[in-house]
Amino acid sequence: MTQPKKLFVKTYGCQMNVYDSERMTDALGVSGYVATDTPDDADMILLNTCHIREKAAEKIYSELGRYKPFKAAKPDLKIGVAGCVAQAEGAEIIRRQPMVDLVVGPQAYHRLPEMEQAAGKGSKQVDTDFPEEDKFDHLPRGPKARRGPSAFLTVQEGCDKFCAFCVVPYTRGAEVSRTVDQIMAEARDLVERGVVEINLLGQNVNAWHGEKDGAEWGLAQLIRELASIDALKRIRFTTSHPNDMDDDLIAAHGDVEKLMPYLHLPVQSGSDKILKAMNRKHTAAQYLKLIERIRAARPDIALSGDFIVGFPGETEADFEATMALCEQVRYGQAFSFKYSPRPGTPAADRAHVEEAEKSARLARLQELLARHQREFQESMVGKVLPVLLEKPGRLEGQMVGKSEFLHAVHMQADPALKGQIVQARILYSERNSLAGEIV
Ligand code: 5AD
Ligand code: SF4
Repeated sequence: MTQPKKLFVKTYGCQMNVYDSERMTDALGVSGYVATDTPDDADMILLNTCHIREKAAEKIYSELGRYKPFKAAKPDLKIGVAGCVAQAEGAEIIRRQPMVDLVVGPQAYHRLPEMEQAAGKGSKQVDTDFPEEDKFDHLPRGPKARRGPSAFLTVQEGCDKFCAFCVVPYTRGAEVSRTVDQIMAEARDLVERGVVEINLLGQNVNAWHGEKDGAEWGLAQLIRELASIDALKRIRFTTSHPNDMDDDLIAAHGDVEKLMPYLHLPVQSGSDKILKAMNRKHTAAQYLKLIERIRAARPDIALSGDFIVGFPGETEADFEATMALCEQVRYGQAFSFKYSPRPGTPAADRAHVEEAEKSARLARLQELLARHQREFQESMVGKVLPVLLEKPGRLEGQMVGKSEFLHAVHMQADPALKGQIVQARILYSERNSLAGEIV
């Protein structure tokens, strides 16, 4: 038998990239690769890149520079670049870093095994197509390895919304939904491999739509169907657009027990003027009304969001409107960024807010969001919560898992409890986690 070759994958950016990295690892498994967690002894290094914010490409070029000595020491080491920087830069990557062997975009990575083989014969490979065929139908499947308790499952990809700041519609392409049958088959496969929590992924996951027995399905129906898999205990989905939160999906938060009380629903700004300039196609009031309806269906739901500060044209008053919206919603968790101009997007050529102003606003917003997060975490202290134990914790004898609200919770626990949902009393709150004890 030949020695397995070692594959080191470094993943940047969103959860869909995490999922894609797993699938690429699976696919290359068929070519004899096994994953390794260090580049030191790798036979192939694959960077799965993100292009969402500034300097992404520059970071990749400097990361690639780090691997030059590796390639010098081991000439048949293969180096690949995948993901959204690969899509955006294409052959330019090989022009600037000739030691790179292959460049593959997010819609073409089912072709990785062939590309790897051709690269092995010395032929540089670039594939940034948006092929007709569906990559998921053509992805070679590696051996059925056991999986951790929680897994991602991509159900939808791409985006047709064209927010004025965002590269996703260009790097990931148009909105495509996978079929009910594909998704159910993959979910069953994951559950057979030990998964008890599935996180449905899509750039616009709540725009997912499908068809079953002649009927049109939305994400809520898909969730109900998944909930019928007995051994599957928890369902989550991310990330959603406010305009695609339909009545059925809101209702599902109230009546599907396995659907976790956590919703990531980015609003980006609290100012109607900025929302319009961003091409978000809703107002702050419409968003708040939506939150009210979601909370009516599931009063204890934890909300999470994304914010951009310093979008072109944002005045102090616009920023104050974002702060006010946050005060009203009180997010359990939130992600906030300074606007960063992305070449090729509509907002890139507009007059920018000064860097110092952006930084000052971001600091103010993050202080507020951190306070709300802390208050939400502290409200958990003393409660008994179901926690899905996922992996060993930092300290001896500890395990960490997730509450239904997506808090990381650590506690003393037998490692054999991995994959079990235990009842834990929350003892205290730390910066980004909770400490608990099994009751
Ligand atoms: N600048 C800053 N933040 C951005 N995001 C997307 N594009 C940009 C950009 N050009 C943020 C949005 C989005 C999250 C994934 O990244 O808040 O929801
Ligand atoms: Fe980007 Fe807007 Fe699409 Fe989200 S909805 S991926 S922010 S264009």
